[in-house]
Amino acid sequence: MSFAQRTTFCGELTAQNVGQTVTVNGWANKVRDLGGLFFVDVRDRTGIVQVIFPENTKAELRSETCLSITGTVQMRDEANRNPKQATGDIEIAVTSFEILNQSVTLPFPLSDEAQMEKVNEELRVKYRYLDLRRPSMHRNLKLRAAAVRKIRSFFDNQGFIETETPIITKSTPEGARDYLVPYRLNPGEFYALPQSPQQYKQLLMVGGLERYYQIAKCFRDESQRADRQPEFTQLDLEMSFVTQEDILSLIEAMTKQVINELIPQFSLEKDPVTDFPRLTHAESMRLYGNDKPDLRFGLQLFDASELVKNSEFGVFASTVAAGNFVRGIRYPGGAQLSRKQITELEDLVKSFGAKGLANFAVINPSEDVEGSRLMESGVRIKGGISKFLSETEVTELIKLSEAKEGDLLLFVADSWVVSCEALARLRLQIGTNCGLRDPRKLAFAFVVDFPLVEWNEDEQRWDPSHHPFTSPKAEDIEFLTTDTGRVRADCYDIVCNGYEWGSGSIRIHSPELQAQIFKIIGVTEEQQKERFAHILEAFQLGAPPHGGIATGIDRLIMFLINEDNIREVIPFPKMGNGYDPMMDAPSPVDEAQWKEMGLQPAAQPKV
Ligand code: AMO
Ligand code: AMP
Repeated sequence: MSFAQRTTFCGELTAQNVGQTVTVNGWANKVRDLGGLFFVDVRDRTGIVQVIFPENTKAELRSETCLSITGTVQMRDEANRNPKQATGDIEIAVTSFEILNQSVTLPFPLSDEAQMEKVNEELRVKYRYLDLRRPSMHRNLKLRAAAVRKIRSFFDNQGFIETETPIITKSTPEGARDYLVPYRLNPGEFYALPQSPQQYKQLLMVGGLERYYQIAKCFRDESQRADRQPEFTQLDLEMSFVTQEDILSLIEAMTKQVINELIPQFSLEKDPVTDFPRLTHAESMRLYGNDKPDLRFGLQLFDASELVKNSEFGVFASTVAAGNFVRGIRYPGGAQLSRKQITELEDLVKSFGAKGLANFAVINPSEDVEGSRLMESGVRIKGGISKFLSETEVTELIKLSEAKEGDLLLFVADSWVVSCEALARLRLQIGTNCGLRDPRKLAFAFVVDFPLVEWNEDEQRWDPSHHPFTSPKAEDIEFLTTDTGRVRADCYDIVCNGYEWGSGSIRIHSPELQAQIFKIIGVTEEQQKERFAHILEAFQLGAPPHGGIATGIDRLIMFLINEDNIREVIPFPKMGNGYDPMMDAPSPVDEAQWKEMGLQPAAQPKV
């Protein structure tokens, strides 16, 4: 089929082109029919231009019809100019046009970004090819492409070899369920899709590559969250003969370079990335309650256990007596909060397992309001547990928390784990309420020295905190059998604004140590042979010391555009339950395919 091909892009036309005959190809963004006189905004990937059809044109011009328009560029009447549009001074007077593909009634009005906010997300994903026509989606994908290009260029310049690793492979333990692929030639056997290229990249190091990277697709059948997809993309890398420091400084340099180039190029509303503070896992849990702190603001947690162990407030004393903790956080200006607002905070911590949220406010000493107490120190406190606290407790708690007049102090008395989880969530809420989570900031940091293993209460066994290939710290190896829980690993995360962006470690490269770790995490010798023979064998054939890291490409784009929903940065995402409404996948397959695979339909597929 022949059609008049574009001579110019819509978004590039200016007053300079007046008088020229041009052809544009694109879509009818908006159609206005002023009684037989059609004004159409034609859109392509560069922008929009207004075209005006001759009077009494006979055509069915609906929104999103695909068009080729030829005409003369002319100035708009003074009254019709639109300073908000790049091409707002001009228009094309149509001399000929072709409808390349008519559009029927749209499932949603995509020309109006404000209206689009209200459109059901599953509908947008079902008609993703329409959703993708919107400039905001184009921008996200362009930004993603540019980020990947810059990442590749950085690593190419550093002597890394980009290498593909298999997609149909063997199970790789990264803590999620595998997606399995039946093997036709031997029914009952399965490939697994990789949760990450972890084992292959280690074997590439044994293969002498020394510096590998890949923009790698990974597959994990795990519960979905706003920042997770069953299929996602990692920047994955591995290096030989390196220390943890080498890896961290390289990834820091890459992150700064890539982001600080993207900010001006895409006019991102972000401050340049500067420093990457480092904190240990233990510090992170103590000061922020989790291992992915939002460091755009301070508000560190404090531990008041020692201070309140003899408190008249029974909950505090009994909690400490039981070997648990009383930890708290300052809410700047929180003395103003209503009872209802405090109850909302209490409900929040309760939803994360806390039993309550004790509080008191520090107020103006001259404000002799009901229920307040003027302490001998001259400080006045109000509400919550203030009547139970001693003179010393108040003085010391204010000192510890650095509370000022107008602040509210909030406390959770519970186990270490519950106080961490509840206070970490509360901290983020306070940050949000107080406007401390500055959208311009990208607060990157490294969290280092993770514990090697975590106790799994349900299964009554040790699980790796990262994965089974992570090396214990040399100085902690002696505790592997005697005090397993205290062993720290050469393992690190990179975090940003309250998200985990990447994880990595120095790996084990000794077959004996690897076998010992497998044993600790409950992988029997038989299972080791069955699942990991290749790694254990490779480690007996001159494996170099090595380590690496992987970061989430999807998440990087989320940070850059302040987006909380990972689907906005993926061209064809899945919904929360792993369903792709556009392709209708997963979906039943023919009985013949079942048979060929040697499989029995387990149940009638859901209708
Ligand atoms: P890890 O499992 O921590 O480490 O993954 C690394 C990074 O990948 C991203 N990520 C995800 N992004 C979107 N959806 C998901 N479901 C998802 N799961 C993970 C995160 C995460 O920080 N092989 C190791 C790395 C190594 O040790 O080198 C690994 O995969 O941004
Ligand atoms: P109660 O005696 O249960 O009515 O609790 C009195 C106050 O103590 C309320 O503000 C509760 O939120 C708070 N509280 C109760 N248990 C805890 C706890 N474990 N940690 C912190 N505050 C608590």
